[in-house]
Amino acid sequence: MLDNNAIVNALRSVKDPKSGQNILTAKMVEDLRIEGNNVFFSIVLKSNDQEMKTSLNFACMEAIAKVYPDANVNIHLKLKSDFSEDDQSILPQVKNVIAVASGKGGVGKSTVSANIATSLAQLGAKVGLLDADIYGPSIPTMMGAEGKRPKIEILYGKHKIVPVEAHGVHLMSVGFVVEPEQAIVLRGPRLGGLIRQFLQECLWPELDYLIIDLPPGTGDVQLTLVQMIPVTGVVMVTTPQKVALIDAVKAMNMFLMPNVAVPIVGVVENMSWFTPEELPDNKYFIFGQGGGKSLAAQSNSVLLGQIPLVQSVREAGDSGAPISLTKGHPSQIAFENVAKNLMRQVYIRNETLEPTRIVKMQT
Ligand SMILES: Nc1ncnc2c1ncn2[C@@H]1O[C@H](COP(=O)(O)OP(=O)(O)O)[C@@H](O)[C@H]1O
Ligand SMILES: [Mg+2]
Repeated sequence: MLDNNAIVNALRSVKDPKSGQNILTAKMVEDLRIEGNNVFFSIVLKSNDQEMKTSLNFACMEAIAKVYPDANVNIHLKLKSDFSEDDQSILPQVKNVIAVASGKGGVGKSTVSANIATSLAQLGAKVGLLDADIYGPSIPTMMGAEGKRPKIEILYGKHKIVPVEAHGVHLMSVGFVVEPEQAIVLRGPRLGGLIRQFLQECLWPELDYLIIDLPPGTGDVQLTLVQMIPVTGVVMVTTPQKVALIDAVKAMNMFLMPNVAVPIVGVVENMSWFTPEELPDNKYFIFGQGGGKSLAAQSNSVLLGQIPLVQSVREAGDSGAPISLTKGHPSQIAFENVAKNLMRQVYIRNETLEPTRIVKMQT
């Protein structure tokens, strides 16, 4: 008689080729049934990849054969119920891909990305953060993961990169693989190659949100991204300044082009006003007012929040512990509200709009 627990334990050693998680944790095993010497179960697939099917089938058979060499193993491979043929995503284990974009550098895109990711994780979501800003990879520093190196794992004969974990967020950054001075000399195709690797060869676990900190403006990274994965939505970061807006609109329009069609899910206005630490009720509008609201109106989206310029936000970023970890700090509350508004807008986007399609470039 075959023992149910022994079978379950055997299957626990089989890994999902996409996330690297064991197939039980990844909730891919269904309808496990044992009858005499027969084992029946289904493997729920999130992608229709033939190689993946074969690998999984083999790995399951092998794992069970180790404990019960004579058992009859009957595996039913089935696609998950909401699978569509269009959905050839290379990241089927990621529910929402959120790109964080801006017109120019220095507006706080990385600060906002790191704090949104941390806040979402604090709210209980499973979160990844991909630092795609090749020119200024600041996520390792801001998340306190400087000097860390991602582990390499061999899965089904292929080398895979395991994202680094910090503050409950799974991280990948150019900063983990090249020195900052080297990053500057990487151009065009090399950059695209790196981003491709981070999406294709990384063992991203099951995620509710993968936040992508993009380089400013429009360029190769943005293009590679929309051609590789369906980006659920874009968060635009801007300062209140009117002149910053022209650049922000340009960057935003790339996503709204009819053949790209990635919706803007909201705008974060950063450095909305300056508040001295010792006078928390004072607001100085040093960069003017209205930029965020105006950009939200132009993109037909909403203002997710206004983040004041506060010294401790900068200090927290430099020290590797985003302010979102300091419960009760006014800036923590501000970022938590941005994160909650983002969750709501992503939900509305998914309810009301078709899933984003990968951009097919004519060659
Ligand atoms: N709300 C804020 N309050 C204080 N400092 C901020 C704030 N937002 C960003 N900074 C600081 O401004 C600088 C630029 O921010 P960063 O997030 O690196 O911008 P970007 O990624 O757009 O280039 C960093 O030193 C960061 O710590
Ligand atoms: Mg940055």
